[in-house]
Amino acid sequence: MNILRSMLFVPGDSEKKMAKAASVGADALILDLEDSVAAQRRPLAREMSLAYLKGADRSNGELWVRMNPLDSADALLDLVAVVAGRPDGIALPKCEGPHHVLQLSNYLEVLETQYGIPVGSIGITAIATETAAAPFTLGQYKGAPRVRILTWGAEDLGAALGASSNKDEHGNYTPPYVLARSLCLFGAYAAGVQALDTVQPDFRASDKLLRECNEGRRDGFLGKIAIHPDQVAVINEAFTPSAAEIAHAQAVINAFATNPEAGTLSLEGKMIDKPHLKQAERVMAIAKQAEARR
Ligand code: COA
Ligand code: MG
Repeated sequence: MNILRSMLFVPGDSEKKMAKAASVGADALILDLEDSVAAQRRPLAREMSLAYLKGADRSNGELWVRMNPLDSADALLDLVAVVAGRPDGIALPKCEGPHHVLQLSNYLEVLETQYGIPVGSIGITAIATETAAAPFTLGQYKGAPRVRILTWGAEDLGAALGASSNKDEHGNYTPPYVLARSLCLFGAYAAGVQALDTVQPDFRASDKLLRECNEGRRDGFLGKIAIHPDQVAVINEAFTPSAAEIAHAQAVINAFATNPEAGTLSLEGKMIDKPHLKQAERVMAIAKQAEARR
């Protein structure tokens, strides 16, 4: 799978931000037609996003579009406007489960056919924890068409629940959001798709961002959403295996390669077995992709 360490949100009606976004180094941009665009500017944002999709150099990274929720009148207007620009994928907010993914996939199939785009080539990122119902379906995405990424959001979920805050007095997520985050992680691995960690909205606080990146990486997320250019380099670095991690992973792989009969071995004074080999192979695959993007 093509792993995206950083996906930068860019309001789809901002000429300035769209112009800047290309040079920021994000693995993907998400041109936003939803929450960061005022309703009356959506028609303009659709036009600008289509023009951007058509004109952009894709070697700078993938280009995605965040549409409006499926139950809004904007949803089909968004898709009808932007699919002609062949986005790499569509981010679906307020996604409540595989039935929403299937509905979106069917719409995309019609539009891909209309525009002569290979059917199935446009991917889906499910933003899969933004309503009260959504967390209950997080284990059901296996086999859902087109899904490449599962991610979670704490801001809309908090609004959906009438929460006065989603963080405690120390700045840590409260239990409902920790649960949503964990279920998103399990759901992504259960479905065999990439787990993408949510945004850090406090975009001037690079120390907080780094801490969240490290926690996400530790737990198995393979990337994180960015909302500001300054966040991208921090995220890319945090989700790229370090030289020491690569050396360790290679040592694990070598140890099993030279002892093909062994189920368990000792390396640097510690027991290693099958899960360590699996993780080492994963680290090497991620490192290889990061190297190719340099
Ligand atoms: N993408 C591309 N460029 C961006 C950007 C983004 N998401 N956010 C800021 N920039 C640009 C600014 O235009 C500015 O460009 P300049 O150097 O040419 O003047 C530069 O980066 C520095 O921006 P700064 O002044 O620090 O931030 P700001 O106050 O202009 O914007 C936000 C702050 C939060 C409004 C802005 O980062 C933003 O719009 N983020 C995306 C929000 C979003 O899409 N939310 C939905 C998903 S949760
Ligand atoms: Mg939102």
